[in-house]
Amino acid sequence: MKIIRAKDYNDMSRKAANIISAQVIMKPDCVLGLATGSTPIGAYAELVSQYERGDLDFSQVTTINLDEYKGLTKENDQSYFYFMNEHLFSKVNVNKERTFLPDGTEPDSAKACGDYNQIIADVGGADLQLLGLGHNGHIGFNEPADSFAPKTHCVDLTESTIKANQRFFASIDEVPKQAYTMGVGTIMKAKRILVVVSGADKAQIVKDAFFGPITPRVPASVLQLHRNVTVVADEAALSLVK
Ligand code: F6R
Repeated sequence: MKIIRAKDYNDMSRKAANIISAQVIMKPDCVLGLATGSTPIGAYAELVSQYERGDLDFSQVTTINLDEYKGLTKENDQSYFYFMNEHLFSKVNVNKERTFLPDGTEPDSAKACGDYNQIIADVGGADLQLLGLGHNGHIGFNEPADSFAPKTHCVDLTESTIKANQRFFASIDEVPKQAYTMGVGTIMKAKRILVVVSGADKAQIVKDAFFGPITPRVPASVLQLHRNVTVVADEAALSLVK
């Protein structure tokens, strides 16, 4: 595991974007595994700038996102479909037909998950998987559990995650209680993994996940077993590790 220390959020975002753009330059038809949440927003903005400057071409890129809320329409501004369009897809020349997320509008969980597993298999998995880190160590929506989930599945979100997401909704009742997420097994099959972390509120989980025991109680701890993980974290997030 390689840990890159960034000065602050902006520095973290630039460094992460440079790793993603290097991937696209080296393999223009690569598969990017993408994440939502607040942490990668700056990196997406930087990728958009690089595209606008003519330094980056997404025309052959395929994307597979980690997760999507179950029950939110694509037009809902809190859906991850909406988020990805807002922050990246509508601002670069990616072929929209080649951008994939689990279908949150599919009420049949087995079908939604089976279809997404098939899509991931068809595109050959991620060359580079971008991840944020939840306060409880979740990756995607793989919450602390007794075992690591292999493939895409429907999860009941924990109370802490529902609370953390509350800021995006008018009331706690509107926060979705379930989501479809790529499994830890699929994440671990990515050729390369890039984790972005920012802020003092993530310092404890950075220490637990990357320097503590490997356990499904801290899902991100499994990343210690992957042979090509880069963590780009700012000084605040790294404040509890040497
Ligand atoms: C998002 C996702 C989540 C977030 C995590 C951190 O697609 O899968 O695991 O990466 O909740 O979120 P932020 O970046 O908002 O702290």
